[in-house]
Amino acid sequence: MIAEIFTASTYGVDAFIVRTEVHVENGVFFFSIVGLPDSAVKESRERTISAIKNSMFHFPIKRYTVNLAPADVKKEGSGFDLPIAIGMLSETSQLFSKKIKEFLFIGELSLDGKLRPVPGILPIALEARRNGFKGIVLPQENASEAAIVGDVEVYPFEKLTDVVDFLQDERSFTPFKVDVKAMFEKEQNYHFDFADVKGQAEVKRAMEIAAAGSHNIILIGLPGSGKTMLAKRLPTILPPLTLDEALETTKIHSIAGLLPSGSSIISIRPFRSPHHTASDVSLVGGGPNAKPGEISFAHNGVLFLDELTEFKKNVLEVMRQPLEDRVVTISRSKLTVQYPCNFMLVAAMNPTPAGSQKETAMYSDPEVQKFLSKISGPILDRIDLHIHVNPVKYQELSSKAEGERSEQIRGRVIRARELQLKRFKGRKGLFANSNMSGKEIREFCAIDSACEELMKNAITRLGLSARAYDRILKVSRTIADLEGTKKLNTAHISEAIQYRSLDRTGWL
Ligand SMILES: Nc1ncnc2c1ncn2[C@@H]1O[C@H](COP(=O)(O)OP(=O)(O)O)[C@@H](O)[C@H]1O
Ligand SMILES: [Mg+2]
Repeated sequence: MIAEIFTASTYGVDAFIVRTEVHVENGVFFFSIVGLPDSAVKESRERTISAIKNSMFHFPIKRYTVNLAPADVKKEGSGFDLPIAIGMLSETSQLFSKKIKEFLFIGELSLDGKLRPVPGILPIALEARRNGFKGIVLPQENASEAAIVGDVEVYPFEKLTDVVDFLQDERSFTPFKVDVKAMFEKEQNYHFDFADVKGQAEVKRAMEIAAAGSHNIILIGLPGSGKTMLAKRLPTILPPLTLDEALETTKIHSIAGLLPSGSSIISIRPFRSPHHTASDVSLVGGGPNAKPGEISFAHNGVLFLDELTEFKKNVLEVMRQPLEDRVVTISRSKLTVQYPCNFMLVAAMNPTPAGSQKETAMYSDPEVQKFLSKISGPILDRIDLHIHVNPVKYQELSSKAEGERSEQIRGRVIRARELQLKRFKGRKGLFANSNMSGKEIREFCAIDSACEELMKNAITRLGLSARAYDRILKVSRTIADLEGTKKLNTAHISEAIQYRSLDRTGWL
């Protein structure tokens, strides 16, 4: 006889069902795990043997063969301990249960038989539901993450003996449940607000435009001018996450074991701020286990690259394709995984090179040119708004007057986004003005001769580059959407022109 226990493993942001086959026969002691196990899976042998002994079960000296099927896909992690132990107990006639086939088992075992949490439970629970399993048996710490999925019963346990009691109906157990909607809504609050930022009316306006059209932005200002403070508040004015978006983002954090303890669903837009010394692997993902990187942890949220000029050029280069495609493809031997990475990029930089005495700089200054050339061209090419942040004046800082709250700004952003969704309905991959391609720009950003004249002047007199042209039109479209106006006018265009300072040849 062969015991057959179902479990699952993750692959990219998804999971697949794994059949754990355990065969025991008489003979000299032997224990082998086959089916492309990684080192954590191989160590299962030591953990399960010890856990079985310390849970007061017998461990007969026999020949044990464990096969993880499908055998041609690499298996990772320590979650196979529980299914292997269950298989060993039933093959050695210490566990009799008809329920085994209806459930999916996952969890690491400690040497004394306790169940320990494993990453990736959300995609695994989704896969259990998809395959029609009645339920999933897992460690307590993983319970609420699995219960989010619904339509699949969740039985969390503290130790191996409890699992056996459950399977043999020694005691009665009730499935673990969470009220996903209530949990999701309760946690949809940010800890900070745009009202905390004093003054800075122009900067806030520019950030509202960025949020409304999903435009990437760069904040240019001296240290202490409030760039980080402002960037952190961008998620608070974006439309609230939908439950689907929340699940997508949670899946990525789940497989990386990054969900904060006590929370099982990410209900606010993520804000990720990798340091400028970050490697390309930690930024875009990869490595031996093809893990997701910061750009995927920022999925449906904001990626903040502070001190953009300090990032290594090759690190920024690898972001180019994912920025365009909103998905990153990672290849490792034989297999390819894809992680979504649809984020808004906020970059920040000093206007002058570190150590420079100048408070403002001429773009034509060779020192400044060299400094700016450090920013990767392809990255700069994907940034629609350049926003200058001057330090807030003392009177404004000391003023008691409260600024506008994020909620009010968000209301306007949501209305502008609704207009865009309506306009782009039925067009795949197009959901905000920033995503428009050249063809769509011609279609939706038609301008009259007065606007044309203004653009011509901007390009010739201000020395704006040609690449600025399309970006100005896209941002103008968003400005008009915020206003609820169909046709672009010169006021929209001239405001958008202001946000292209890095293209100028004059003062930075
Ligand atoms: N407009 C402002 N309103 C209130 N506090 C501000 C403002 N600008 C800056 N600060 C204060 O100055 C600190 C430094 O700002 P920070 O965002 O770190 O600047 P930067 O990132 O540009 O170096 C903030 O934590 C905040 O306390
Ligand atoms: Mg800062």
